[in-house]
Amino acid sequence: MKAFLIDRYAKGAALRVGEVPEPQLLDNDVLIQIHASSVNPLDAKIRDGEFKLILPYSLPLILGNDAAGVVVRVGSRVRGFKPGDEVYARPAKDRIGTFAEFIAMNEADVAMKPKNLTMEEAASMPLVALTAWQALVERAKLKKGQKVLIHAGSGGVGVIAIQLAKHLGATVATTTSTANVDLVKSLGADVVVDYKKDDFENVLQGYDVVLNSLGKDTLEKSLRVLKPGGKLISISGPPDPEFARENGFGWLLQQVMRLLSFSIRRKSKRHDVSYSFLFMTANGGQLAQIASLIEAGAIRPVIDRVFPFEKTNEALAYVETGRAKGKVVIAVK
Ligand SMILES: NC(=O)c1ccc[n+]([C@@H]2O[C@H](COP(=O)([O-])OP(=O)(O)OC[C@H]3O[C@@H](n4cnc5c(N)ncnc54)[C@H](OP(=O)(O)O)[C@@H]3O)[C@@H](O)[C@H]2O)c1
Repeated sequence: MKAFLIDRYAKGAALRVGEVPEPQLLDNDVLIQIHASSVNPLDAKIRDGEFKLILPYSLPLILGNDAAGVVVRVGSRVRGFKPGDEVYARPAKDRIGTFAEFIAMNEADVAMKPKNLTMEEAASMPLVALTAWQALVERAKLKKGQKVLIHAGSGGVGVIAIQLAKHLGATVATTTSTANVDLVKSLGADVVVDYKKDDFENVLQGYDVVLNSLGKDTLEKSLRVLKPGGKLISISGPPDPEFARENGFGWLLQQVMRLLSFSIRRKSKRHDVSYSFLFMTANGGQLAQIASLIEAGAIRPVIDRVFPFEKTNEALAYVETGRAKGKVVIAVK
């Protein structure tokens, strides 16, 4: 099969397109013929070697973290899926590789594709929707009437997080640039801070939750918009000791993460708010719940551009500009 892969970690390098064997199917796996995939900043970070320590892959490695497609074969122990099922998924972090014609993954990571979405639309959802779900539902336990600030509302994660937070009944503030103000309003944002004109820390206060996906400056300023007891959840780092423990990292890596997050944890304590780092995980059950919300019309995909499979490198480069509005999709089949 055809796939886009890396032979070594190299910052900014193009992925190599090559012929590779079809993936092997384990007993609990489904084999999916991929119709569409989508790009995440994570793909570029893995290629650059930024995740070497926490995601020790063996090379060569097929990149890609999102898939929508059709089940073509199932392992002997699979109970939830059969050949012909239309599905969508984010594979487990140690079994990525959706920039390819086929992928095998554990059925626990897979869900039926939302019926009202095309393959391309469905492929835009898994990683970002799971991230929003795990941040807002699981970690923040966001409730009706609470106030949440979602940074970078026009990004892949932001466009879904805004809609999910609105569905949960929260008041949603978001940051974006002038060109994307209308987009985030159309997704339900109640308060929009145009970062070209205003500094969010001067405009917002008394928030229960902040979802940060930007840099250190934004992270630290976010402390000042939270009320005492509020939650600062960051998906862009720094990783904290709890994350290291949950992932079973060794003593050294735990100490590294303790040091990396020392400053923000100390400042959070001073502001009487909690800081935590979130790294999303694959979860077919949550994707099934997200599919119900999509079918009910509570959440819709936002797609900036669709690239053909052979232009996967161009799709990756486009996401790396940091200016994508919603998701960038790759049409594989
Ligand atoms: N830990 C995890 O599990 C996890 C999961 C998913 C993503 N992430 C990370 O979260 C980050 C965001 O991911 P993504 O997929 O949403 O990225 P993305 O789609 O590439 O984000 C692009 C968007 O960011 C906006 N943006 C850039 N600078 C901004 C600023 N200063 N203020 C407000 N908006 C700004 C841009 O809007 P403008 O053009 O208007 O500036 C653009 O629409 C990445 O670092 C990614 O690796 C982590």
